[in-house]
Amino acid sequence: MKTIKKITCIGAGYVGGPTMSVIAQKNPDVQVTVVDLNQARIDAWNDSDLNNLPVYEPGLDAVIAEARGRNLFFSTDVERAIDEADMIFISVNTPTKTYGKGKGQAADLKFIELCARQIAAVAKDDKIVVEKSTLPVRTAEALKSILDNTGNGVNFHILSNPEFLAEGTAVTDLHNPDRVLIGGEDETAIEALVNIYAAWVPRERILTTNLWSSELSKLVANAFLAQRVSSINAISELCEMTGANVDEVARAIGQDSRIGPKFLKASVGFGGSCFQKDILNLVYIARSYNLTAVADYWEQVIILNDHQKTRFAEKIIQTMYNTVNGKHIAFLGWAFKKDTNDTRESAAIYVADHLLDEEANIVVYDPKVSAEQIYKDLDYLGTRTPEENRRLVKVVDNPYGALDGAHAAAVLTEWDEFKTYDWAKIKKGMKKPSFVFDGRKLLDRKELNRLGFAYYAIGE
Ligand code: NAI
Repeated sequence: MKTIKKITCIGAGYVGGPTMSVIAQKNPDVQVTVVDLNQARIDAWNDSDLNNLPVYEPGLDAVIAEARGRNLFFSTDVERAIDEADMIFISVNTPTKTYGKGKGQAADLKFIELCARQIAAVAKDDKIVVEKSTLPVRTAEALKSILDNTGNGVNFHILSNPEFLAEGTAVTDLHNPDRVLIGGEDETAIEALVNIYAAWVPRERILTTNLWSSELSKLVANAFLAQRVSSINAISELCEMTGANVDEVARAIGQDSRIGPKFLKASVGFGGSCFQKDILNLVYIARSYNLTAVADYWEQVIILNDHQKTRFAEKIIQTMYNTVNGKHIAFLGWAFKKDTNDTRESAAIYVADHLLDEEANIVVYDPKVSAEQIYKDLDYLGTRTPEENRRLVKVVDNPYGALDGAHAAAVLTEWDEFKTYDWAKIKKGMKKPSFVFDGRKLLDRKELNRLGFAYYAIGE
């Protein structure tokens, strides 16, 4: 069996960075190099101040402090890193296509193909190429074809090793994964990757399958997780109509061991770079095989999620006497979930967009997201000019500053610190009646009512 001495990972993002840091931490004898075209990102990974890492994840700073410079390196020299490696992970972004065939649904594989071509052009000896990015089922076939036809006669073995970490808990998920999934055809290549993980993951949690099962399982895992969120969110609307309470319903059904208690929290809707993209991709793949009923079934998860975001925004408008024009609405949170600085597909963006259409004035506070990122997210929508976005939206670095003088507070991310605020003091500074719209069911209804807030939470 080939012993892996050098690993390269192409893509130093939310997956490549943390995953490779843990692989390096747990395999001190393996040299791990993470490369990216984005110089600023690599510089941030190399920053001596660990507060400046490009990805915020609890516990990541300690892992980096242990491994970086020992056997973990971040670089923009992609060619050299490919040349030296025995094993190459591809962990680049695979966003939804924004053009051409499959626009709005299919995964855009241009970055994957670029990586494959670069590996093929540079490699002078045999390599194991590992798909870490989430990919449509049967992508390995295309990868193999590119590698075999443009390479220098070297042997490539392709493995699929999708990543199941969740942002916000990436380091604990990587340290203690429910399972590691490795799909492949070549037993020796599979064993080489199994050995890397076996440095800290019990063998029985390292599953091996064929390539296609592994590729498809990642899409299916995300589809099932998102489906649970949409299912409970669908019920949240019914609860609001009937006097049932969605938390009580979730507790009641979650105690059934067949259903289980996790991922049953109603909210303003799921966000993040993966759930929507991966379900859309699944829908696209099903349609491409003419499986209309299958495609329609999964598409409904997205439709319901969009509905939930719109419904929350409309609830705010309707409750505030059908107009938010010129009203100051404080947004608590912008990240798509707590404990991450990632804002991709965050519900906050879409709720803001809806309220801005109604000429609301939004003041945002998020403990980890920069003003620059918030404006970038809004500008990217293209709904209004960058100047208008800056006129209507202010970003502050102090929650009390955001809430002072506000007509309403809207909780968009479940950051723990929001619970610890002095809500009595906040109440004094807000306009009357003082509305709180809790999109995360985070705050204490009894307490806020006692303080005199008009409190709305999803599903109650
Ligand atoms: P990201 O956008 O944070 O990182 C991707 C990085 O790849 C970027 O820094 C980009 O500059 C770099 N890149 C793109 N093309 C390159 C090239 N040719 N050479 C060198 N660098 C290149 O994306 P993220 O979130 O890390 O996701 C990566 C993959 O992992 C995606 O397929 C995603 O679906 C999957 N995934 C993401 C999870 C998440 O929680 N973010 C969880 C599990 C899987």
